[in-house]
Amino acid sequence: MNNIIIGSDHAGYNLKEKIKMFLTENNYNVTDAGTYSTESVDYPVIAKNVAEKIISKEYEKGILICGTGIGMSIAANKIKGIRAVVCSDTTSAKFSRQHNNANILCFGERIVGEYLAKDICKIWLETEFEAERHLRRVNLIENLQL
Ligand code: RB5
Repeated sequence: MNNIIIGSDHAGYNLKEKIKMFLTENNYNVTDAGTYSTESVDYPVIAKNVAEKIISKEYEKGILICGTGIGMSIAANKIKGIRAVVCSDTTSAKFSRQHNNANILCFGERIVGEYLAKDICKIWLETEFEAERHLRRVNLIENLQL
């Protein structure tokens, strides 16, 4: 039930491994979309793979980690239906679910420490979308895409 897909580039690899372990210990069934070492890779490739698995409904939510979280979010947001957010604090993580119904969480290994990243993941994964007026706004965002 608690299925989640996670991916990173080389700059996010070490943090991905720690987050993977944390989520597994907390009863999430984690699929690792790579990368599998600190050898340099192109983050848009990983972002696309994860985003497509969300759009196909294989997974409801995903996590993408790069150096800053920025490149991953820009790339993932190119895919229609993806709402990827960069969060470096727990408040943003909470509201990105409550108000924006974010379906991909991004953060950067060069930005957040391991323990903050774990707190961000926990809050993001446990917070529900509030819908109501926010659903109208999320739908308006969807319609902006040409
Ligand atoms: C890789 O050096 C770095 O550019 C990447 O991980 C990410 O931070 C891009 O936004």
